[in-house]
Amino acid sequence: MSAPVFLITGATGRLAEPVIGLLGGRGDRLLLTGRDKGRLAELERRHGAAGRIEALVTDVSDPEGARLAAEEAVRRFGRLDGLVHLVGGFRAGPLFLMDTGAYEQMLRDNFLSAVTATQAVLPHLTEGARLVYFSTPLADEPLPALSAYAAAKAALVAWVRSIAHEVKRSGIHANTVVMTMADTPDKRRERPQMNFDHTVTPELVARVVGFLTSEAADGLYGSCVPVLGRFEFTSELGGPPPGVGGPR
Ligand SMILES: NC(=O)c1ccc[n+]([C@@H]2O[C@H](COP(=O)([O-])OP(=O)(O)OC[C@H]3O[C@@H](n4cnc5c(N)ncnc54)[C@H](OP(=O)(O)O)[C@@H]3O)[C@@H](O)[C@H]2O)c1
Repeated sequence: MSAPVFLITGATGRLAEPVIGLLGGRGDRLLLTGRDKGRLAELERRHGAAGRIEALVTDVSDPEGARLAAEEAVRRFGRLDGLVHLVGGFRAGPLFLMDTGAYEQMLRDNFLSAVTATQAVLPHLTEGARLVYFSTPLADEPLPALSAYAAAKAALVAWVRSIAHEVKRSGIHANTVVMTMADTPDKRRERPQMNFDHTVTPELVARVVGFLTSEAADGLYGSCVPVLGRFEFTSELGGPPPGVGGPR
């Protein structure tokens, strides 16, 4: 069988390069998509190889753009074996500062883009294909001032779990990586005081994507796979029982 072909949407984002490196490094063939032409050209210079790793400027949150991406993958590589949907957006702010436009944007970036991309690839997929999405523990435990982001990711997770039942009948695996904040240079610049023990490196996330896009994950349909590093929610109520020790 020829090497599998994956559509990597949101390839211009922070998590994409290690994913491209890992999947490309094991011989998978990749079509990378994004809206940022300059960034895609840079990725092509660094990772591109005709017939193995190619790029396409398109917006997969638009059904036509998504259809083009899926069709181009098949036209260029002769087949399509899955989708790694790295598209997403982030916005924080208290409710009274969030207009409905902010909610619509979060839903488009984090949820509807997954719908359009998945609807576009599905007609090309066969038994053993893989769909991988990305969420956050905030979807289950929404913290203040993150209502739009948390609600959009919660919608994504519920949707993936539902469609996973539909596509598993065709032997297709749809799973979600539930990840804590990625340890990236921009995050280190923005939040120098933060405890980076609670983050994970993009390389560790990429390894889980490697697993979910391999036969090692044949038993998983509709799973939410936590990649949380040493992340934990803390509370004033946490700590040792009364009379026992001090802080760890
Ligand atoms: N990084 C983290 O700490 C973290 C934590 C939890 C979950 N996640 C999730 O993991 C995934 C990848 O994260 P990341 O850090 O690589 O994200 P990122 O750096 O913000 O990149 C997001 C990507 O999504 C694309 N995108 C955003 N909105 C879009 C839209 N409406 N239509 C089409 N493309 C759109 C961007 O493409 P353009 O170049 O076209 O703008 C970019 O390639 C995302 O789903 C994110 O929510 C990330």
